[in-house]
Amino acid sequence: MSTAAAISHPNIAFIKYWGNRNNELRLPSNGSISMNLDGLFTRTTVSFQPSLPFDELIINGHEVVGKGLERVSHILDLIREKAGIKMNAEVMSENNFPSGAGIASSAAAFAALAVAGSKAAGLDLSERELSILARRGSGSASRSIPAGFAEWKLGESESDSYAFSIAPADHWNLADCVAIVSSTHKKTGSTEGHAVAGTSPLQNARVTDAPRRLDICRNAILKKDFEALANIIEHDSDMMHAVMMTSNPPLMYWQSATVEIFHQVREWRANGLPVGYTVDAGANVHVICLGEYKDEVEKRLRACPGVSKVLVAGVGGAAEIV
Ligand code: DP6
Repeated sequence: MSTAAAISHPNIAFIKYWGNRNNELRLPSNGSISMNLDGLFTRTTVSFQPSLPFDELIINGHEVVGKGLERVSHILDLIREKAGIKMNAEVMSENNFPSGAGIASSAAAFAALAVAGSKAAGLDLSERELSILARRGSGSASRSIPAGFAEWKLGESESDSYAFSIAPADHWNLADCVAIVSSTHKKTGSTEGHAVAGTSPLQNARVTDAPRRLDICRNAILKKDFEALANIIEHDSDMMHAVMMTSNPPLMYWQSATVEIFHQVREWRANGLPVGYTVDAGANVHVICLGEYKDEVEKRLRACPGVSKVLVAGVGGAAEIV
């Protein structure tokens, strides 16, 4: 028996990944940039055991079977193949953030699985190899492997599409204040969403323009230019949602409270508060701000109609063995 444990942080995309050029390999249609979220994490333990008749997955104390287990077994298969082992594994995973809180758990989950699983199998993978392995489980997980601010490059092939750190966590004190908007609607998951992105006539324009947005975002981070960052993340998020809304079937993730917050955030910024919004495949709004304003932003968001809760996170480090 061989066991290893790892922790990994979820991330929020500033330039979004939406659509794949190869769904099976999760080779993205465009590059993306994100920030890891400190304080929020997934802790995963992987234990390969000769006596196990099949892989087992336990998330937050509950056994998971079906699609969720298949997705994990797929990554374990890639690890077994690399390590030349045949044993099944027990995977135990816990999130310290509530599910359905508007924070995608798949990024942190597959990053932690890649790190713990490869270590338990006796492999010593580089950050690049870990990012590629995590990507095969969930595209955004590639960006939870490196520290701080990460860029996932498009790449030319399977072995060339991975994320790397463009700046460490302590480079810039930013915060993500996540406004949780109550929603009774069942959302379409990202995997199904990526598969229909190409049906929108706007996707091509969004993808073709991505290098420009990536340059602006990368430079804003490197120069710590908040105004430029706020403008580009809002623009990029709006472009992704325009694709979602115009795909077939159309995906409308926003609630009225979501849009209400957009207006508020833009007004606050016009009046001097350093804030900008971005939204993933859900209704909750990630309000990015300079770290010193996080209490003020949290307070204002709590007072917005339709906001049930606000989670606050700083910039997080790399996925690591614990
Ligand atoms: C809107 O990485 O969750 O959050 O690879 O199918 O697991 P799968 O998709 P996922 O997609 C993330 C979509 C997004 C934007 C982003 O994080 O870049």
